[in-house]
Amino acid sequence: TARSTVPTSDPTTATTAEPTRVASSRHYLMCRPTHFDVTYAINPWMHPDVPVDHDLVMTQWENLRRTYTALGHRVEVIEGAPGLPDMVFAANGATVVDDVALAVRFHYPQRAGEARHYADWLRRSGYRVVEAMAVNEGEGDFLAIGDRVLAATGFRSDPASHAELAAALGREVVSLELVDPRFYHIDTALTVLDDATIAYFPAAFSPASRARLAALYPGAIEVDEADACVLGLNAVSDGRHVVVAAQATRFAAQLHAAGFTPVPVDLSELLKGGGGIKCCTLELRHAPTATSPGA
Ligand code: ARG
Repeated sequence: TARSTVPTSDPTTATTAEPTRVASSRHYLMCRPTHFDVTYAINPWMHPDVPVDHDLVMTQWENLRRTYTALGHRVEVIEGAPGLPDMVFAANGATVVDDVALAVRFHYPQRAGEARHYADWLRRSGYRVVEAMAVNEGEGDFLAIGDRVLAATGFRSDPASHAELAAALGREVVSLELVDPRFYHIDTALTVLDDATIAYFPAAFSPASRARLAALYPGAIEVDEADACVLGLNAVSDGRHVVVAAQATRFAAQLHAAGFTPVPVDLSELLKGGGGIKCCTLELRHAPTATSPGA
């Protein structure tokens, strides 16, 4: 598939030393929130007694989808299934790199049924689906960056899943440990902005993991607790545009100062499930072409 590039600014007129941020067109899978609800609590954000506004969920989700297409990205939609209220969080559906998809295995039984819906969709779409032995919650805990994957453990994904991921994808996997239950998936505490740049909330990681991230990404943007607590880091970047929680205003200013273009989107109803923008978005990297399914 073609990856179009759009230069962000004319380097000859740039007044700061910030690198030129370059967008590339992406391919995403999203799950329609028809059956989204909060009927159980498996993270500290979920309160089954707080009602969900079902019309507002649909509107907010549709707005996210349109934001991606307006940025020139391709979005596929998988329908949600009844009885699986968290299936809208498509990032937990798999980890996809090239034509390989590592299937997921959920930590909590409430979400177990989602795995086969995503695996079936990916298989039908031509991906080679590798079944998982250890618990892993897909891109919730595995974030691809350049040629490596940042992988978390601590709350959901089993440490053994990191070796499985490395074997399935043939990529370097950096294991990190999450320590704050509010940030139970790595995508709630860290955003990949481009192949060499991250933003993160350091306190969500163990001291050793913090040191590892600081060494690997010296130019990282450190996000404060207030922005982390509106799931500001649950953001999606195309290398230039960063679709980010509208409530994370200081993070938006940091992104702007670093040469990125923040694109605010409000997913307040989905926050009731403990998820945000990135949770609703599974990236399909290099979709297989029609002529080489699974090749
Ligand atoms: N209620 C879901 C859970 O606790 C939210 C998942 C959010 N997804 C994510 N990629 N962080 O599993």
